Amino acid sequence: MRTVTVGVLGSGTVGQDVLNLILRRESVFTDLGVKIEISGVLVRDVNKVRDVPPGTRVTTDPGFLQECGVVIEAMGGVDRPLEMLLPYLRSGRPVITANKALLAERWEVLREYALAGSLYYEASVMAGTPVIGPMSTVLRASTFTRLQAVLNGTCLYILNQMEEGKDYAAALAEAQALGYAETPPTLDVGGFDTAHKLAVLARFCADGNFPYSAVQVQGIEDITQKDIQDARAAGERIKLVAELERQGGAGQPGPWKATVAPQRLPENHPLCNAGASRNALVYEGEECGTLIFAGGGAGGMITASAMVGDLLDWVIGFPGHVPLH
Ligand code: NDP
Ligand code: HSE
Repeated sequence: MRTVTVGVLGSGTVGQDVLNLILRRESVFTDLGVKIEISGVLVRDVNKVRDVPPGTRVTTDPGFLQECGVVIEAMGGVDRPLEMLLPYLRSGRPVITANKALLAERWEVLREYALAGSLYYEASVMAGTPVIGPMSTVLRASTFTRLQAVLNGTCLYILNQMEEGKDYAAALAEAQALGYAETPPTLDVGGFDTAHKLAVLARFCADGNFPYSAVQVQGIEDITQKDIQDARAAGERIKLVAELERQGGAGQPGPWKATVAPQRLPENHPLCNAGASRNALVYEGEECGTLIFAGGGAGGMITASAMVGDLLDWVIGFPGHVPLH
């Protein structure tokens, strides 16, 4: 039996469920001839009550990173996780992350490690609903033309609740209590989290160097109850939509246009009828046709399922998520 030492950065909504799921899947790792040993879990406050397996070493000292074979990053932020992960990546060891802000905003540094197959990040877009896997593998055989997606669980929840008559602030507070929102939630409601995710996706289907700064962003903060009800009366729903296509339309040679903005969509649009709390992505390619991905996109266990899936991929020997060259 091979022992793999895993270091975990963060033990909040996602990190706790990663630790619990690794334990729950112990027999799957055993079947692969691997014993997972958690060498340490980095947090800010060791006195917080946490739902983690008994005996987990929770610490504010990142020293344990030096010894571990794999790092799972679920702490959030941009520069602090980068600073901690870089020496690790430089030594050729793999990193599993759910951190789309880090990926979107520090791609110029991280891209070489993604190209080398050392970065695993299925959880960063649509949590446990797999889209990065197919986009980084089989879908490459098809010429990408356009994607349209609802990628933020917090905005989805708020807009759904507003349709039921709830006020914006109360709906946002509920989304935070459910563990969906970023810190600060401006990242969600301002559209930036969706833009981070769109930049991550664009690197698999449009341009491997796609810059986050190229995404035009508008959030949902100005959407009123009246806007929602007007749309409803017209048989439409308001969603925060991410879109990626050629400037002049599909098949045109122009530059890529990436936008995030609230849109009124017909009630029978695939982005509206995916289910109350489900993210959705409509992917169009010349050869593969139109594909629809839908499922949960936020929450602890669903995100953990993708991260532990990434860990299993690494154990089996699959490379991380390699962007376009
Ligand atoms: P939380 O805020 O719930 O947890 C963050 C954890 O990281 C906490 O345990 C916190 O410690 C620790 N942490 C944060 N900063 C530091 C630091 N500077 N030093 C040491 N520890 C630190 O966040 P989530 O679990 O919700 O999200 C984590 C990541 O996963 C983010 O990148 C997020 O975007 C991503 N993600 C989240 C999803 C979700 O639904 N929540 C879904 C998909 C991705 P302490 O507990 O002591 O405060
Ligand atoms: N804050 C994010 C959301 C978490 O609401 O979708 C999942 O990426």
